[in-house]
Amino acid sequence: MGYSRRSCGWRYQLRMFLVIAVVLNLFIAPLTYISVTKPAPDVKVRNIPKMSINKSFLVSLHSPPPWLVDLYRRTDPKQCTYNNCQWTIDKYLHSISDVIIFDGPSLDRIPIIRSPGQTWVMLGLESPLHYGSNYKLPAWKSVFNWTMTYRKDSDIYFPYSEVVKKEDFEDKQNYTRILKSKKYAISWAVSHCNAASDRDSFVNYLKGYINDLNTFGKCGNYYCGDWENPDLCFQKMAKEHKFVLSFENSFCTDYITEKAFIPYTENIVPIVRGGSHYSSFLPVGTYINTNDFSTVKELADYVIEIDRHRDQYRELLQRKNQYTILPKTSMYQRAICQVCEKLNTDKHANHTYPDIAGWLWKNGGCFYPKDVMPN
Ligand SMILES: *[C@@H]1O[C@H](CO)[C@@H](O)[C@H](O)[C@H]1NC(C)=O
Ligand SMILES: *[C@@H]1O[C@H](CO)[C@@H](O)[C@H](O)[C@H]1NC(C)=O
Ligand SMILES: *[C@@H]1O[C@H](CO)[C@@H](O)[C@H](O)[C@H]1NC(C)=O
Ligand SMILES: *[C@@H]1O[C@H](CO)[C@@H](O)[C@H](O)[C@H]1NC(C)=O
Repeated sequence: MGYSRRSCGWRYQLRMFLVIAVVLNLFIAPLTYISVTKPAPDVKVRNIPKMSINKSFLVSLHSPPPWLVDLYRRTDPKQCTYNNCQWTIDKYLHSISDVIIFDGPSLDRIPIIRSPGQTWVMLGLESPLHYGSNYKLPAWKSVFNWTMTYRKDSDIYFPYSEVVKKEDFEDKQNYTRILKSKKYAISWAVSHCNAASDRDSFVNYLKGYINDLNTFGKCGNYYCGDWENPDLCFQKMAKEHKFVLSFENSFCTDYITEKAFIPYTENIVPIVRGGSHYSSFLPVGTYINTNDFSTVKELADYVIEIDRHRDQYRELLQRKNQYTILPKTSMYQRAICQVCEKLNTDKHANHTYPDIAGWLWKNGGCFYPKDVMPN
């Protein structure tokens, strides 16, 4: 008895389930059909620009990491000279997109299906040392048309920041007061210990010559109060120190990150170390480059010299303070405008990178530094 009733209920439930499934499908299928095949009305550009471009382009970000979503939200493709590009992070629009932008460091194992004529772009702000391993897989080897990285030889140049001269700037800061609160010579904030550039060893040798070198963060022995807020932490470091170590985690051509740029927003002088030609990124005479010295001791002697001579340091700081930096959002805004311009102008381009991993490494100029020596 009990058995048969239970079996009855089971059949009834199955029948109800099927009915509900069919009804739901009747309603939802047309909806998904509409959203996949017909992009939302605002995908089409309404205000046609002066140059009478009638075609509009759709650019998709594929699985963008959070920082990229943030930049996507804070920029506006309509501000570009070529303003007929619509950007989206909606994955259901991939198949109808003219361009798909992939984050190189976090590529999936298997590429998505490519629609005919689709332009694929590899974006990368990390050095190749910090890519996941998927970019090396054969499936990704020769699929990208354009590169969008911090390297100057990318199709779309997308650096971390840029140093610019302040316009109509009159420095009214009280340098007597600024210098008075600088009790220590060097500060270093580091969250990744034992990076490939072996900066930890370099700093250890430097500590042999300079006593007041304070290390903040995970690998150091000083806390910045509110380490959760990097800006506040940096302000505190700048208040009490004359110099900050802007040491990159890898030595790669053009790889200059926020570390080297942030000092241009505070009263502190950067000591840079990395694989780039710094003079083509930062104004000469506003920073110290470890590469200009043949030994750690030579560098230390120079820093100690400036540390002791108040006027020399003040001059250096004031020269640096004539400059400021452009935020990452400006860099991204410029990059998305370049993408749209290329879409409008490179009409018959038919270029694919034959070997993206090769491009990242062989021409990427990553190398291991040879400057880690005590004297
Ligand atoms: C754009 O459309 C306008 C009117 O619809 C037409 O007159 C013009 O020739 C078109 N321009 C191009 C470049 O196709
Ligand atoms: C600058 O700061 C010093 C030290 O705090 C102070 O004695 C001096 O009066 C200040 N100068 C000006 C012009 O405000
Ligand atoms: C693009 O280049 C590939 C290989 O270089 C060639 O096979 C293909 O026909 C070209 N397509 C067009 C549209 O020019
Ligand atoms: C991108 O690469 C694909 C596949 O190699 C090719 O068919 C297409 O013409 C290229 N597009 C551009 C804009 O270079």
